Amino acid sequence: MIENTNLRINEKGHLVIGGYDSVELAREFGTPLYVLDEDVIRSNMRMYKNAMDKYYEGKGLVLYASKALCTMALCRIAQQEGLGLDVVSGGELYTAKKAGFPMKKVYFHGNNKSAKELSEALDAGIGRIVVDNIHELVTLNDLCRQKGKIARISVRVKPGIDAHTHDFVRTGQIDSKFGVALENGEIYEFASMAKNFENIELVGVHCHIGSQIFDLEPFEETARVMLGMIAELKDRFGINISELNLGGGFGIKYTSEDDPIEYDRYVESVSKVVKEACKEYGIEQPFMLMEPGRSIVAPAGITLYTVGAVKEIKGIRKYVSIDGGMYDNPRYALYKSKYTFLVANRADAPITQEVTVAGKCCESGDLLGENVPLQDVKPGDILAVLATGAYNYSMSMNYNRNGRPPVVLVKNGKARIIVKGEDYEDIVRNDLIPEDL
Ligand code: LLP
Repeated sequence: MIENTNLRINEKGHLVIGGYDSVELAREFGTPLYVLDEDVIRSNMRMYKNAMDKYYEGKGLVLYASKALCTMALCRIAQQEGLGLDVVSGGELYTAKKAGFPMKKVYFHGNNKSAKELSEALDAGIGRIVVDNIHELVTLNDLCRQKGKIARISVRVKPGIDAHTHDFVRTGQIDSKFGVALENGEIYEFASMAKNFENIELVGVHCHIGSQIFDLEPFEETARVMLGMIAELKDRFGINISELNLGGGFGIKYTSEDDPIEYDRYVESVSKVVKEACKEYGIEQPFMLMEPGRSIVAPAGITLYTVGAVKEIKGIRKYVSIDGGMYDNPRYALYKSKYTFLVANRADAPITQEVTVAGKCCESGDLLGENVPLQDVKPGDILAVLATGAYNYSMSMNYNRNGRPPVVLVKNGKARIIVKGEDYEDIVRNDLIPEDL
């Protein structure tokens, strides 16, 4: 059940992560608790970086898509592993800056960056702003003029590739809020405008076709399409695109139904396509960027909960209630995302039943899984949810005024808090009672 992961089971039958007994972690830090295995994060980052060196002769940069999990400690780890950073808001940019991340290796995405965010990015001197649309291009050009700067930008393109994934996270096709389309020539309108702007230099193109994708073909096809477009930008406008960013989206194993390939194979196959297409079009090989998020952090994380009420509705279903829920992991409520569940204090016990795991929010849809296989379970047990390192903490919220759980980073049997849990005082910290009330 826990094959292919960083986890093991000790002699007490307890689940162990990063050399630390998860039952002890729950006791020491309380539940709910996000736990991250530092070695797994580092080795995933290294795998991408080494692949870029090996298959693309190092003429590229792997950016960690920090939306998957953005904290100052994560920025520090990405920096130490030689990665760049994809940020998508002023908040993520601020986190990177506070952590001392080298600004030249920061790429700023987003479909509706505010003038304030653009201005902050310019002042910070980040590597690239990835411009999403013509409105943003105009705003950025104006800001640059005021500041006496020239922005070397990249542009987000919809290459029109239909990657097979969940509708909610599919972003490559024309009906998407992200980027300018290739299909209807919008990109060429954008490029000719950019060319005429004095404070803008268009040097890169970017695309991202979706998330949790297992096939190589959509990525290969996307690379081909993007290279064709780069060639056309050169022919029609004399614009030399020297950077190609192919986004992220590589799938991971949430349950036994998922069958991901080794991540370096994406880099290998895409590098090959890029080199071939460059020869075919007679253009120079661009600097290549990739932006994995989920595949770096998801497999490194688990969430620990304490089981409360177990409610059996005869002939219908058994609800196992936990002390967290959609406020720390909204992915099932949003996408019906599947997870693997394990009773952490009896991790070696056989699966005996199917249960529905319910959170503690006042919301019927607050579930983490329905009809999921589990061991015998009773109040007080520690329930582990696997592969929660991506888009769990980063999408958490305070619904029902629940405080977000802490995040701990474990390595060699040592645990350090990297995000403090929120207590009641944190919950009311920004509340005000006006004097005249
Ligand atoms: N680059 C861009 C421009 C993106 O929009 C994304 C993800 C990534 C890179 C990283 O993709 P990854 O390697 O993590 O798949 N909240 C959803 C996922 C949304 C993904 C948004 N963009 C979820 O929980 O499944």
